[in-house]
This record gives sequence, structure tokens and C-alpha cells, in this order.
Amino acid sequence: MEERIAINGLTFVPYITRDRIQAEVERVAAEIKRDLEGRDPVFLCVLNGAFIFAADLFRELGINESKINFVRYSSYSGTSSLGQVKEIMGLTEDLAGKDVVIIEDIVDTGLTATKMVADLRKRNPRSVRFATLLHKPVSSTTGFQPDYVAFTIPPKFIIGYGLDLDGKARNLKDIYIVESESGSAENKDKEMLNLVLFGAPGCGKGTQSAKLIDEYGLHHISTGEVLRAQIAQGTELGKTAEAYISKGQLIPDELMISILDAELDKLMADGAEGVIFDGFPRTIPQAEALEGLLEKRGTKLHAVIGLDVPEEELIVRLINRGKETGRADDNLETIKNRLDVYHNQTSPLKDHYKKQGKYLPIKGTGVVDEIFNDIAQGIEHHTGHKRRTRK
Ligand code: IMP
Ligand code: MG
Repeated sequence: MEERIAINGLTFVPYITRDRIQAEVERVAAEIKRDLEGRDPVFLCVLNGAFIFAADLFRELGINESKINFVRYSSYSGTSSLGQVKEIMGLTEDLAGKDVVIIEDIVDTGLTATKMVADLRKRNPRSVRFATLLHKPVSSTTGFQPDYVAFTIPPKFIIGYGLDLDGKARNLKDIYIVESESGSAENKDKEMLNLVLFGAPGCGKGTQSAKLIDEYGLHHISTGEVLRAQIAQGTELGKTAEAYISKGQLIPDELMISILDAELDKLMADGAEGVIFDGFPRTIPQAEALEGLLEKRGTKLHAVIGLDVPEEELIVRLINRGKETGRADDNLETIKNRLDVYHNQTSPLKDHYKKQGKYLPIKGTGVVDEIFNDIAQGIEHHTGHKRRTRK
């Protein structure tokens, strides 16, 4: 692999090796095969960028009956005034009743993908699925979510393995990323970084939040802390909340959402660089509401960090915390109830965020600093945001 590649005044550095590409192509092929074997699928490779990914993926599928077509999504040639009107060129196959899989190199804003899927649906296929080598969810303006993604990447320019800059570099066997100018300049003009810390009670959300606040200059919203403060002050809200919390139940969605809205207003007035949501959302309606709350403030949720800890360890940790801090809901009966609530109402959020390509699973057992290193690496890989110090 070359160390650095210069093209048109930009420098690119190695990003994804051919071995990792191969491994993820195999995974995507297995997922497609699981979903479509025995269904006689038709693959559409979108030229030019996807030609190498499509070739590798198609061989890896090992479905002898499947067909592949090569299409181009482009403007009518020679109609510069109609430059915006794009259509699928080169598609000769009748797609009626067929299961179609589009193979793309990269989904950036998602505009091309959204239009292609809509155009293909007009040909009455039985299904349309979308497989992409690379997905930049942070660049999305459409919310388009591919069905199969080999790599989720930050919003930076990529070359190699079929992807080009000005027609160059498609031949490279590995994937390269444009080099950022300098670490500090890079974070300066960045948009906010908004994260959800997700996991069962006792998984370490509070501990890791403290480190995230330090290393990324983020503000922290712990809905649990907000509620406990209200309870301590004996406010109306506190009394309502206490009735639910003491039984280990969740606070109703509308109430939680309005609390969060008010907390966000306070933070935005402070000029926050970003927010960590700890303990929110806990249900799918709350997750949907959160997107809306961030959108109306001109930002979005970037990643969801899921801390995985086995249940036996959670119970031990919570009982110990109850002894040390006297937190009222850290007793065995309430703990069991809280874990049940987590499994039934909160853990479905994992799939919700996986589908959006935002879920970062992290092993939540072991040394606190090592867990944090995994989190920091995940954030950098997903969003391009770097921590302030490197240990
Ligand atoms: P979009 O999803 O409609 O914004 O368009 C995706 C198209 O933009 C791809 O098919 C590529 O042609 C181009 N593109 C976006 N990001 C990159 C990149 O990082 N490297 C090379 N081409 C890119
Ligand atoms: Mg393309």
C-alpha cells in the first residue's frame, strides 16, 4: 500500500485495507444471500464507481441463477438545459415481479439513491434493495438508508477500489481518505457533536459521560439527574416523576420530551459544542422526538454508543452503587424491574439505530480507560471528531 497519494493538489492517506474490504464484502454477500436466495434476483451495478465492488460482491454471493446488469444514472446527453433530469440508462431487462438489488459505491447526500429507487419502483419489481460499499450518514440530506452497507464512514472524500477523483485512482486496491489539514483546525469548524449513550442501568453511562465531557467539550443531559433534582426540590414535576421512578417504570414519553426540550434550550443559550444524552431516549417515540428536537435547532444526532455489559455484572454493580450512594432505586427488586423494562422497552432502540447506521456497540466491561479508548475510536471513525488528548 502506498503511504500517501497526491491527486489534483489533494493528499490521500490509507484508510481501509484490501483485507478489510474483502471481509466486509463477504459479510454483505452473506446478508444478501440470506435475504434473497431462491428468489432469482437481478443485480444492477451503477457505473462507473461500483464496478469493482459489484464484481467482488457478485462472485462472493455464489447464487448461480442471479443476473447482473450495468446501468448509469445520468442526464440525457447533449441536453445541458435539462442537466438536472437524470434517468437510468442501459437497463434492458424487464424488472416486473423481480427482486432487484442496486449496487453502488457510495451514498453521500443520498439524492442519487433516493431517485434511483423511486425510478426503479415504477418498473413494478417485487422488491428493490440497495447495497453500498460506503455510506456517509453525516452527509445525508435525505435520510436515505441503504439496506446493506459495507462501511459507514465520516463525511470526507474517498478514493480507490473503484472510486475516483476526476476519473483517477479507481485502480487502487485499498481505499484512501483525504488528509485533514491539522487536528485542531479540523475540529474548529465542525458542527456540533451529539451523542446518545445507551445501555442497561449500571452499564457505565455516567462514568463514560464524564470522560466524554472532558475530551470533547460536550454538555451532558442526564434525564435521570434532571428528574432527581426536581424530586429533591419537591416540585410538581418531581412529584409526578417520583411516582414512576420509585416503581422502576419509565416516565411517559410526552413528559420526558418536554423536559428535554427545555434542557436543550438552556444548553443552546450557553453555546454548547455538542450534547451527550444519557438515559434518553428510552423508547422509539422518544428517539423519533429527539431527531425532531435536534433538527429544529439545525443539528442532528451523530452516533449512539451502546455499552454492553452482561446482566449478572449489572446487578452486582447496581447493588454496590446502592450501598455506596444510597440511590433509592438501586435495590434488588427495583433493579430487576428496571432491567426488565430495559429489555422490553429500551433495547429495541438498538435495531432502530442500527438501521440508521448510527449504532456503535462497545464492550462495557474491563478497564474504564480502555472502554473509553474504544468509544473515542468509534466516534472518530464514524464522525471524524477527534478527542482533545491522546493517551
Ligand atoms: P449522492 O449520494 O447523491 O450525494 O451521490 C453520491 C455520488 O457522489 C457517488 O456516486 C459519487 O459519484 C460521488 N461521491 C460522493 N462522495 C464521494 C467520495 O468520497 N469519493 C468519490 N466519489 C464520491
Ligand atoms: Mg456512484
